[in-house]
Amino acid sequence: MDKASALKKLEQEIIHDNNLPLGTNLIFGEGNPNCDVLFIGEAPGAVEDQQIRPFVGRSGQLLRKHIRELGWKEEDVYITNIVKRRPPENRDPLPEEITAYKPYLTRQIEIINPKIIVPLGRFSMNYFLPDAKISRDQGHLFEVVFHGKTRIWHVAPMFHPAAALRGTTAMKAFGEGFKNLPNMLKKVEEIKSPVL
Ligand code: URA
Repeated sequence: MDKASALKKLEQEIIHDNNLPLGTNLIFGEGNPNCDVLFIGEAPGAVEDQQIRPFVGRSGQLLRKHIRELGWKEEDVYITNIVKRRPPENRDPLPEEITAYKPYLTRQIEIINPKIIVPLGRFSMNYFLPDAKISRDQGHLFEVVFHGKTRIWHVAPMFHPAAALRGTTAMKAFGEGFKNLPNMLKKVEEIKSPVL
């Protein structure tokens, strides 16, 4: 089965999973299933829920602008969230909501199999790197062996664009992290990942 069909099938599974928390629209993710770079946010907000697309509000505009400024097309990357429905009042996702949606995110990543995963913000980062600190570790490239699988994932956490919008230091770091992404991609392409 090709990646696009596998993702469609996974989306249907989520839609029909009645045990998942949150009752709003499912915002599965969008972009190129054959992408090199996968961006993962926290959870959709109000604008995302209205448009049924990830990262289309203010944070999303900032994210998408930085993608385009690299000379990349938004359609060439893939954008999704850990929690795929909007928490009420735009509150942070609860630990049990993250836990409930996690297995689906894992399968989504396994299907896409990107060269670099960019978690946006601490919730998404801590899924890959539980002990990491966003202010210390954003902008760095990590190798993560996930769930004892035989594949190393390359993970480059960045500040959440909402944090970048709130402060100049985070905005600067966010911009620098983005500018460095093509280099990181090159580095990952040069590494011959050992098979464990
Ligand atoms: N914030 C997120 O983490 N995800 C979105 O899709 C929108 C805002």
